[in-house]
Amino acid sequence: MFAVHLMAFYFSKLKEDQIKKVDRFLYHLRLSDETLLDVMARFRAEMEKGLARDTNPTASVKMLPTFVRAIPDGSENGEFLSLDLGGSKFRVLKVKVSEEGKRNVHMESQFYPTPNEITRGNGTELFDYIADCLADFMKTKELTHKKLPLGFTFSFPCRQTKLEEGVLLSWTKKFKARGVQDTDVVSRLRNAMQRHEDLDVDILALVNDTVGTMMTCAYDDPYCEVGVIIGTGTNACYMEDMSNIDLVEGDEGRMCINTEWGAFGDDGALEDIRTEFDRELDLGSLNPGKQLFEKMISGLYMGELVRLILLKMAKAGLLFGGKKSSALHTKGKIDTQHVAAMEKTKEGLANTREILVDLGLDPSEADCIAVQHVCTIVSFRSANLCAAALAAILTRLRENRKLERLRTTVGMDGTLYKIHPQYPKRLHKVVRKLVPNCDVRFLLSESGSAKGAAMVTAVASRVQTQRKQ
Ligand code: GLC
Repeated sequence: MFAVHLMAFYFSKLKEDQIKKVDRFLYHLRLSDETLLDVMARFRAEMEKGLARDTNPTASVKMLPTFVRAIPDGSENGEFLSLDLGGSKFRVLKVKVSEEGKRNVHMESQFYPTPNEITRGNGTELFDYIADCLADFMKTKELTHKKLPLGFTFSFPCRQTKLEEGVLLSWTKKFKARGVQDTDVVSRLRNAMQRHEDLDVDILALVNDTVGTMMTCAYDDPYCEVGVIIGTGTNACYMEDMSNIDLVEGDEGRMCINTEWGAFGDDGALEDIRTEFDRELDLGSLNPGKQLFEKMISGLYMGELVRLILLKMAKAGLLFGGKKSSALHTKGKIDTQHVAAMEKTKEGLANTREILVDLGLDPSEADCIAVQHVCTIVSFRSANLCAAALAAILTRLRENRKLERLRTTVGMDGTLYKIHPQYPKRLHKVVRKLVPNCDVRFLLSESGSAKGAAMVTAVASRVQTQRKQ
């Protein structure tokens, strides 16, 4: 009995010592409440800059009008196709929306691989490939001779002048296909489809994944007016008053704005909180100097941040007895799945050992505890930063409506948010702390980004039919 107590005491002392050691080393990755409030204020200023006509051209947060003006009202009906490109997986879907007494969505889908040759090759080939996958899907689902409306979830920053058009401003995340930037991706897809005799599809909407997520959630909860993705990349959209959107004619009603918050900081606005690890990660990325906020937050980068920190700690003799392995030196060897596994409450420590051993290291108990703590600091910072930007959006919504208290729903999607055991809880808690005058409901939307494109298409065709009547 005494021995058990002694062991427990030894373990908790060890844990405390390791945590202190890592905390001291990663001092700059911990953000105080004051810093978060400051980030929130900076993001609010960025939103205004992006919305105003004069400052938009130089704004790093682009605040893109999406031409989505109505959320679903439950009367949507019909069969739609949807493409989802830009998240962790490329997927083609058939979505059936029906009223039948209650709101009902039925989906069938198929994932297709997107190897680097496709995502970083020639742009025309990328769109040909998408059209090929669509044709294949229609064949297997026996839809070839049906003319169906299609919604295209394309999760990259696009300048839109209408719902069914969008000029790619820049590639982000893992994509870098040549000759696509500055062109309308809807016409590119249409052209590729025309090369297929068996494809007769009407592209009705181009939708960012955040917008898809918001629309999917709004179908179930009419209070939903914000969509957030924390996945491979990170971004948010929300419903803004038309009178505040300088770039679109008209003052009536609201329109959804795709903030593209991943680019926050690209003008230097976050230099004081970026660390040497963020800078190193950025230098080794596909788009140096771009998407700096995203690189501190999202799934594509989280594992790599952890790896860079562990390497530096090992070099400083603070981990693994100063030994490194060639895997630890190799970019991409730690990914978000690993971080999530290491942070699991029960199996976390055992997972950490296994992952480190797989990386060719020989960790002690103390090393495993320290590595777990590194993961916690990195993922905590990510959740904190997201919370600060989201709190800024919620405050804006409350002020737009001149309310003392705002009751609202935020639609959530993205692999990091879904697979990380602690992430949602932490994010929700910090948001509630930063905006005590908002009652926020977080709604997870299963396949929201993909389903949402069909919802937008359904709303568009409902509005079209109403206009004709
Ligand atoms: C990147 C894209 C953005 C997308 C986000 C989440 O930030 O630029 O459009 O919404 O990733 O997928």
